Amino acid sequence: MAVNPVDIDDMDLSEVEDLRDATWHPSLRAIPVAGIRKMVNLAAKMDDVIHLSIGQPNFPTPRHIVEAYIEALEAGQTGYTMDAGLPELVDALAEYYGKRYGRQITGDNILITTGATEAMYLALTATAAPGRQFLVTDPSFLLYAPLIRMNGGEVKLIPTRPENGHQLDPQELIDAMGMRTYGVVLNSPSNPTGTVYPRETIETILEECAYRDIYVFSDEVYDHLILDDMEYPSVLRHALDLDNIMVVSSFSKTYSMAGLRIGWVIASQAAIKKLRRYHMFTTTVANTPAQWAGIAALKGPQDCVRDMVKEYAARRDRVVHLVSETPHLTGYWPQGAFYIFPSLPHNVNANTVCLRMLRETGVCTVPGDAFGESCPNSLRISYSTSMESIEAAFERIIPWLDRQKF
Ligand SMILES: Cc1ncc(COP(=O)(O)O)c(C=O)c1O
Repeated sequence: MAVNPVDIDDMDLSEVEDLRDATWHPSLRAIPVAGIRKMVNLAAKMDDVIHLSIGQPNFPTPRHIVEAYIEALEAGQTGYTMDAGLPELVDALAEYYGKRYGRQITGDNILITTGATEAMYLALTATAAPGRQFLVTDPSFLLYAPLIRMNGGEVKLIPTRPENGHQLDPQELIDAMGMRTYGVVLNSPSNPTGTVYPRETIETILEECAYRDIYVFSDEVYDHLILDDMEYPSVLRHALDLDNIMVVSSFSKTYSMAGLRIGWVIASQAAIKKLRRYHMFTTTVANTPAQWAGIAALKGPQDCVRDMVKEYAARRDRVVHLVSETPHLTGYWPQGAFYIFPSLPHNVNANTVCLRMLRETGVCTVPGDAFGESCPNSLRISYSTSMESIEAAFERIIPWLDRQKF
């Protein structure tokens, strides 16, 4: 990977050495220095920082889920489970998805993993190969492109734009498809934009992909964090069959249990059979007591989720308003997750702005270039923090941006 000399200032020297070190497999060069780290490292050295940079829920894990985890430990549930996952959890998920989307899902369609991260890792690295092209939206969550490139796959970035709320234009995606296109990666609601694709977008993409025999990888970790009154258009609901889809999700965001690390892949029986074997050679099985906690999450009371979503929606409303009051920032209406990705004027480097804003106001955000190439003038604001912190952050940001001459 070429190291741009101007970036070296912002990197640890050890990282530069790393890139040159012949010890490591060249595929590791596909893993970028995470843009978010620069901000968080700097913030760690400062006092009085307000974080609008958090990528995980800020609510406590609901009590009944914590108790199920403790009970599992006390009951001696500390050994390996079956490689596909704890059978009780696999069955609970099959029943839950079957009911939610009105389709036939069996345990053979499910593999339990260490978070959605392992699920995506397995799905993408098991399929990416030289000569295979994957279409990935830009901006997007930072995992996908490196995982594809690590195994020699080609990534074609499909830019989405702030002026239409970072919606994916299905026709643009279809126009980008060619002979080498093997897969499409979707993530709705999206990290970093909070965008939820409407049903028509999902249906059009699924239809075209089925016709062309292109795989759809759908990261649905925010599937419950839908902040407007709408039915969530899941790939799992709208796909005709499971033949060319892999849907990934987890308990991390819905139940505020990111550290318990339970996720899953849903796919055809044939795909799950292959992925199970790969999973055995990757993490063997997911954490056993955490899988019991997952059963409690699925089968227990759901008002905890409704309460969290209600609070996220109130924060979203407030953040959208505050962004609209902030000089030089342009927002839109995000409908899911807990992010907004507003833009600064064209030609303004958000990386420089975010670093200066952190140094001079103590508010930590994440610059757009952490999520791709097409939005160097955007920044990610996470509202996975209290309303008080949101208010206090904007009290600092607004006058500071007002003083900037862009
Ligand atoms: C879009 C997206 N996918 C996957 C993950 C990882 O989820 P998990 O904690 O289940 O590994 C995250 C975490 O931030 C995410 O934002």
